[in-house]
Amino acid sequence: MLGLPRTRDEGRTPPVEGRPADSRLIDTYGRVATDLRVSLTDRCSLRCGYCMPPEGLDWLPQEQVLSDDELIRLITLAVNELGVEEVRFTGGEPLLRKGLERIIGATTALRTHRGQAPVTALTTNGVGLDKRARGLAAAGLARINVSLDTLDPERFLRITRRDRHRDVLAGLAAAAAAGMGPIKVNAVLLPGTNEDEAVPLVRWALTEGYQLRFIEQMPLDAQGAWERGAMVTADEIQRALAQEFELVPTDPLARGASPAQTWTARGDGLEGTVGIIASVTRPFCGDCDRTRLTADGQIRNCLFARDETDLRAPLRAGADDAELARIWRAAMWGKAAGHGINDTSFIQPDRPMSAIGG
Ligand code: 5AD
Ligand code: SF4
Repeated sequence: MLGLPRTRDEGRTPPVEGRPADSRLIDTYGRVATDLRVSLTDRCSLRCGYCMPPEGLDWLPQEQVLSDDELIRLITLAVNELGVEEVRFTGGEPLLRKGLERIIGATTALRTHRGQAPVTALTTNGVGLDKRARGLAAAGLARINVSLDTLDPERFLRITRRDRHRDVLAGLAAAAAAGMGPIKVNAVLLPGTNEDEAVPLVRWALTEGYQLRFIEQMPLDAQGAWERGAMVTADEIQRALAQEFELVPTDPLARGASPAQTWTARGDGLEGTVGIIASVTRPFCGDCDRTRLTADGQIRNCLFARDETDLRAPLRAGADDAELARIWRAAMWGKAAGHGINDTSFIQPDRPMSAIGG
């Protein structure tokens, strides 16, 4: 997997001047963003310690949050004009957004430049999913990732500061019953809390038919408390799993730009796919195909970008699609080579992950 993109091609024509040669979201390294991540709210029903302080954050004032219609307008623009092929809804917690089903329905009704409906996906903490799963499936939701870091309700309470473990399990079961699949489960392992759960989590997921993905803890917490030394690494997780399961790497070509390294795990009479997203120790910025829209209408060209580009003000001032597309392309053009977490000069983004979207 590539760490950083190839050489920067300063000779390319920036898409900001005149008529762009390429209407897609390209950057100076030749990467093309086709995967749009939309944060629907910065609020959340949980308070995971690696994300938020117990009291929550200063939420965005409602008038700054894009309305459902504004969001749909920008998603439509991204798919119709900018070559976006996959739309993932994130938060905060996207289930807190009442209009989620309508936004998903409007997205699946679009057609990409290949003539297909964009792939829709949802990253959720699963709280309340039991009541929404059917409606989401009916709206055409194609993929779902549910976050669950532990099999133990007490640990769940300690990690998320909310006693909702049962709700998440019920949400997962409802997603399966609604016919969604593959259902992916995201887990962050934390030293001293759940780092011993790599094998139990995988065994459980294989039994239930879910695909487990471990995510290395990233410096995106609101408190700025992330420490490299206090992080469970991909190597450690892989070593733990290899003691219990036979791990056969899945075809890297089939993975495309997906950041997860995946394996077929076999053991205990079970078999299925597991993955590790090693953003810190095995960066994949060279293959990045993402563009991000925050709940308050800011474009981010990287999860770790230090600056954002405002689409909300021009949108509300009546800009036409061509103007909004031009701003979006320009925002992506300047995307940096990599997140630089491993550089001594790394500075955490001003906004935490819950406000950017995972
Ligand atoms: N590092 C890694 N993963 C994180 N998540 C939230 N904050 C962090 C962090 N600092 C995870 C959530 C969820 C997904 C959106 O990202 O647990 O699974
Ligand atoms: Fe909510 Fe996700 Fe942050 Fe946990 S990690 S508090 S579920 S936004």
